[in-house]
Amino acid sequence: MNEEVRAIRGVRDILPEESLKWRIVEDAARELFVRYGFGEIRLPLMEELSLFRRSVGNFTDIVQKEMYVFQDKKGRTLSLRPEATASVVRAFIEHRLFLTRKVTRLYYVGPMFRYDRPQKGRYRQFYQIGVELFGGKSPRYDAEIIMLAYEIFSAIGMPPVQVALNSVGCSLCKTSFAVELKSFLHSRRTNFCPDCLQRMNQNILRVLDCKVPSCRQELRDAPLFSAFLCDSCASHHAEVVKQLSKLNIPFYEDSSLVRGLDYYTKTVFEFLAQDDPNALCGGGRYDNLVANLGGPETSAIGFAIGMDRVCAALPDPSLEPSPVRIIFLGENACNAGCDLVVRLRKEGVNLVVDYDAESLKNSLKSASRESVGLVVIIGENELSSQSATVRNMTAGTQEQVAFTVLSHYLKEHLACIGRTHAEN
Ligand code: HAM
Repeated sequence: MNEEVRAIRGVRDILPEESLKWRIVEDAARELFVRYGFGEIRLPLMEELSLFRRSVGNFTDIVQKEMYVFQDKKGRTLSLRPEATASVVRAFIEHRLFLTRKVTRLYYVGPMFRYDRPQKGRYRQFYQIGVELFGGKSPRYDAEIIMLAYEIFSAIGMPPVQVALNSVGCSLCKTSFAVELKSFLHSRRTNFCPDCLQRMNQNILRVLDCKVPSCRQELRDAPLFSAFLCDSCASHHAEVVKQLSKLNIPFYEDSSLVRGLDYYTKTVFEFLAQDDPNALCGGGRYDNLVANLGGPETSAIGFAIGMDRVCAALPDPSLEPSPVRIIFLGENACNAGCDLVVRLRKEGVNLVVDYDAESLKNSLKSASRESVGLVVIIGENELSSQSATVRNMTAGTQEQVAFTVLSHYLKEHLACIGRTHAEN
């Protein structure tokens, strides 16, 4: 036998039954995006590597360790996107979207790629649904964006989620915080891992992302951003807190939350399920990124929901009723029944045809094994009476139904089967 082909490590297929869950989440999110005035942007899966270096940050784990980087035939260094914010900002600048609207609201859905260690809830190809809002300075935008994410979780009936909130301030706050952090870390540098020692020289704030348990232990006594916010960032944060309380969004302040991407300023947040440290959604404000990538000074904020993690936490939905199955008995019936199949589909009946039926008994057996609700049998007798034999596989009953009213009959009975499925 030939060697069996397999998907590569860290990527996977989403089969139809699981896909149904994904569609429920996507549909709910898209409906809310439209209600909040967001338009969809479809982005390329690859970009120049330099885009991510300049946005996510050259010394972040994502850029240092997790990028899929390759050369194209012209020797350009490209990368599969590890996230979409950088691409949305690139598109915002490239298409001069800042000229068309005071506030631009964009959403995206699609796969991202990070060469992470695969484990539960962590894949190398994973999917995000996200939004980015450009041109909104007020802290009320921060609250509205968090509200939008919260509404998505409510709409899909997710078990309670908690919102962790923090502020990482502006460049001024970061500079004074970094000075304090540096003196703290240098006094204990022997206790940190080699990666952290390197981060201390390259981008000291990224030490706070380290996942090595001994470093995490040391970092418990590290200074916190909240003590270094300038007046303007502190009052922005206080207003976000006030607005979230007004909107009745359950959140808690987590002063150790820094997020692992360089572009954030002021508000950062994550959505978490109880008893699971893996965030379901992450986001924040990034008021300097548009200018850093060559655009005009533009405030911005957004989030991305991790579809894989959200769908894994959702209960299985009731299955859609399977399509009607038509069994033709003999070549004659098959030839004569082709027009009927075309007409039934045009009239809105979901159906599949068993063109290879060898015996009625075996075809019914496989229909039953595959939980088909309705089977339509057409042979010589049915052709001469111009009526099909319709078998209700759940009830074990059978009826003759005239070809002229068949589509109506099938749709009505399929709807009944669908209701029974949902009730069960
Ligand atoms: P992020 O926190 O890197 O933020 O990713 C957002 C979400 O994507 C995470 O909370 C998680 O649910 C999911 N995720 C990340 N990595 C993986 C993985 N390896 N496997 C499965 N799921 C994963 C961003 O990507 C920012 N661009 C979010 C943002 C938008 N900030 C502002 N605007």
